[in-house]
Amino acid sequence: MLKLDDLTFAYGSVKAVNQVSLEVEKGSIHGLIGPNGAGKSTCIDLISGRLRPTAGTVHFGGLDITRMAGPRRRHIGIARSFQRISVYPELTVADQLDVAAHLVGEKDVDAVVAALSLEQCLPHTPAEIGYGEQRRVDIALALLGAPALVLLDEPAAGLSREESIALADHLAALVRERGMTVVLVEHHLEVVYRVCDRLTVLAQGAVIADGEPQQVRRDPQVMEAYLGRSAA
Ligand SMILES: Nc1ncnc2c1ncn2[C@@H]1O[C@H](COP(=O)(O)OP(=O)(O)OP(=O)(O)O)[C@@H](O)[C@H]1O
Ligand SMILES: [Mg+2]
Repeated sequence: MLKLDDLTFAYGSVKAVNQVSLEVEKGSIHGLIGPNGAGKSTCIDLISGRLRPTAGTVHFGGLDITRMAGPRRRHIGIARSFQRISVYPELTVADQLDVAAHLVGEKDVDAVVAALSLEQCLPHTPAEIGYGEQRRVDIALALLGAPALVLLDEPAAGLSREESIALADHLAALVRERGMTVVLVEHHLEVVYRVCDRLTVLAQGAVIADGEPQQVRRDPQVMEAYLGRSAA
């Protein structure tokens, strides 16, 4: 479904992403993890088209999309979450979802609303709902139209442990039901191990481990990368 080959991106002399190769299988939830500054967000930007790589390629469904513009990528089925909810602060959640659904041809907004438990939020504007709910609206907007591939960069940022787990479970149920594929950047390792089918671990821009969560979890290099972070 998604294939990165030797993908490299440098901010000046800093190689934020350094020869990253990975494959994301159709229908999977693929976790992209690693310590702060590992290059996870830069990778997401290269896949969504916000950034163009210095070297390497991005293939999606066999198509080379390395140079394709971001908006066109959304059109062919690659969506990412944004903090879009703040773009129309005066609109209710229901109206925001309806406008977005219309744009991407989503017929079943109710299914997305139900999966993310957003029923109570519908009549309210973003300012009137909680932060956790705002995050869920943001994700709902990305999921409308059942894009083939959804890129989520720390969807649970700022949420409590319980909220993160609840969100991840909702998300997993919905993507499985709709046959979507997800690349999930997430700091809460408990959430990662709970919902991901496969993991790629980045450190300093490079892949240091890739495989089944249970196998990656025991990898000495991965443990060291995380211990290194908490010791710092
Ligand atoms: N706009 C920028 N200009 C210069 N350097 C940047 C910029 N954005 C990121 N970097 C650098 O690129 C590297 C990778 O950053 P990136 O944001 O991709 O990491 P990350 O894994 O998402 O980290 P975090 O867990 O903190 O979100 C870091 O060294 C960072 O300092
Ligand atoms: Mg990041």
